[in-house]
Amino acid sequence: MVIIDLSKFVPFELEVDKETSKIVKAGDIELVFSTRKLFDMKDVIYDKNWLNSQQENFDLYYMYRDLTRDEDKPIFQKHGVRFDITIIPPNFLGAEYIKTTGHFHPEAKEGFSFPEVYEVMFGKGLYLLQKEKKEQKKKRKNKTLDPYEVLIISAKAGDQILIPPGYGHVTINPSKETPLIMNNLVSSEFSSIYEPIKKQKGAVYLYHHKEVWIRNPTCKDKVIVKEKFPSKIVDKPFYLSFIENPEQWIFLNEPWTKENWL
Ligand SMILES: [Fe+2]
Repeated sequence: MVIIDLSKFVPFELEVDKETSKIVKAGDIELVFSTRKLFDMKDVIYDKNWLNSQQENFDLYYMYRDLTRDEDKPIFQKHGVRFDITIIPPNFLGAEYIKTTGHFHPEAKEGFSFPEVYEVMFGKGLYLLQKEKKEQKKKRKNKTLDPYEVLIISAKAGDQILIPPGYGHVTINPSKETPLIMNNLVSSEFSSIYEPIKKQKGAVYLYHHKEVWIRNPTCKDKVIVKEKFPSKIVDKPFYLSFIENPEQWIFLNEPWTKENWL
């Protein structure tokens, strides 16, 4: 067993088995996870020939929701925030690198969908943020032809990524050997919306195994792609920052209180 020690990110011992891509120790926290399997993702996989040739519904990635110590649960609950860990083993979905299903968040208040923050703990991640199409439709009514926006953020261990209101998001593990292990803080007050990205058969771009971005052929809209760098949201790991000063994370439930999202 090769152990990845991630204890510096949380106030308890945190260890992941590199071979199985599963958490083997998280202090005294009971380890409960859900698994995203291949056929759960059938709508968003680009390489349909490959998908149709697959017989086995194998595991793609693991999600540990609300992975908090008993003593910290009241503070997370009081502020309506969840701490999750996601582990994406290295793999391919046919022609593309492994990715999450992708989703949007509902609005906390008109014009402000819930944001989210990610912290890479191990490996590398590509975060593709895709602007909500709703805004695009509005603009079309006004007969403007502004493209809608795709942001690409390349991150490594220690980097923090902000998903601002108004963007759906997909995460890719662009490594052939290394799992991507990330955590997130997010409001516990909503359920994600998977339909738009499923309907579009994946995000606007997918990351091809030849390490180039490929345009999703089902998406015909005019798009502008911008590269963005990881953000420095707080000066310590998310979990530690949250239990020390949960007030500074109020924007996760009240996004209108934060300025300068991008
Ligand atoms: Fe999300």
